[in-house]
Amino acid sequence: MVDARVLAVPVVPRQLSAQRGRDPYPYFGWLRANAPALPELRAGGYTVWYVSRYEDVLSLLADQRLSKNPDLVPGYVSGPLGANRHLVHADPPEHARLRKLVGAAFLPRRIAALEPLIAGTARQLLDRADPAQGMDLIEDFALPLTFTLICTILGVPEQLITPATRQLLADTMVPSHASDTREQLQVFLRQLVACKRLGAATELDLLGALAHARGDRLTEEELVSTAYLLLLVGHDTTVNLIGNGMLALLRNPEQLRRLREEPELMRTGVEELLRYDSPVRNATFRVAAEPISLHGNTIQSGDIVSLLIGSANRDEARFPEPDVLDLARDPNEHLAFGRGPHFCVGAALARLEGGIAFRLLLDRLGDPRLAVPEDALRWHPCRVMRGLVSLPVTA
Ligand code: HEM
Repeated sequence: MVDARVLAVPVVPRQLSAQRGRDPYPYFGWLRANAPALPELRAGGYTVWYVSRYEDVLSLLADQRLSKNPDLVPGYVSGPLGANRHLVHADPPEHARLRKLVGAAFLPRRIAALEPLIAGTARQLLDRADPAQGMDLIEDFALPLTFTLICTILGVPEQLITPATRQLLADTMVPSHASDTREQLQVFLRQLVACKRLGAATELDLLGALAHARGDRLTEEELVSTAYLLLLVGHDTTVNLIGNGMLALLRNPEQLRRLREEPELMRTGVEELLRYDSPVRNATFRVAAEPISLHGNTIQSGDIVSLLIGSANRDEARFPEPDVLDLARDPNEHLAFGRGPHFCVGAALARLEGGIAFRLLLDRLGDPRLAVPEDALRWHPCRVMRGLVSLPVTA
């Protein structure tokens, strides 16, 4: 049945819609001006509302009328694993319980101690590359760096930290591959969790610590889901920060020069790169648990609400000259890590990894340039993440 509410909405100009995979910002600008809450009826029979203005995204990120429970949406198939007993799909009081257990490992103090490990891993990767001959910043640097680090932090045995494991995780995000890889991934994660339950937890071993937590413990299902969540969001997102950030610097050579000459700009610089081309385009899953009025519309119970972080971070009502990359921008209240109870657990780690990666890349690459024409760059077709498939550069 056609939803009458959908017929009344403005039609997005075709050209903006067609180019949004490559450059979503003109499309986002159009949404903010013309349809700040845009409904879309999906084939499963449910409606998704796209919310694009900063003030709306900010308040809805912490709005208790929105639930994280996918079962509230009839017809919605959630997540590649089938098992979603992790933070992203938890409501209070479950969420607070899981968050306390997982969050303990990501406290800024513990993360700061990882600096030598991060810098050492990044240096090794750059030692292996020959930028003068050209290198792919995604495949040769960002992916192996972030994957090795999250595996090390979680305590995944070294022999499993392989490109094949990485590919297995990545494939679960591609709907056409998901059913083939789901089973393999389930087996992998269950074995990993079983091995953590058996062995004693070592120092850098978050999964081991979770498996051995006394008192309040994670169930088998929660442990498997949490391992999957952290392995996936613990590296893909930071790959996009490094990739999107380096591309933004290559497109703005005067900012790149400034960052090299004034390394103290790195703190505000990383925040600006997070804002300017946000690695996570939409916030995580949310569904209306009760009707919500927004800009003259009624979001009904059971409708999905997609908060467009990438659009909020370019909102002219919040940021002066939002389309200008200004590494010294301060204040910079971007929403790249979300806000409120589901604020990114790994924000401190991502900021540290990003800062170290940009510093070392600028040191080693001298005067980097794109090795292919800009039109040849390919972006992942994912609706949630925003990231490049590859970023070939030469020094
Ligand atoms: C630049 C890198 C990253 C960005 C931009 C990013 C962004 C985000 C965003 C936007 C959310 C959802 C907020 C919401 O829907 O309310 C989130 C949640 C989350 N992030 Fe990150 N993230 C990054 C890196 C990481 C890393 C390295 C880890 C783990 C090691 C991580 C773990 C998580 C977890 C577990 C959640 C769920 C939190 C919850 O629901 O309570 N993230 N992140």
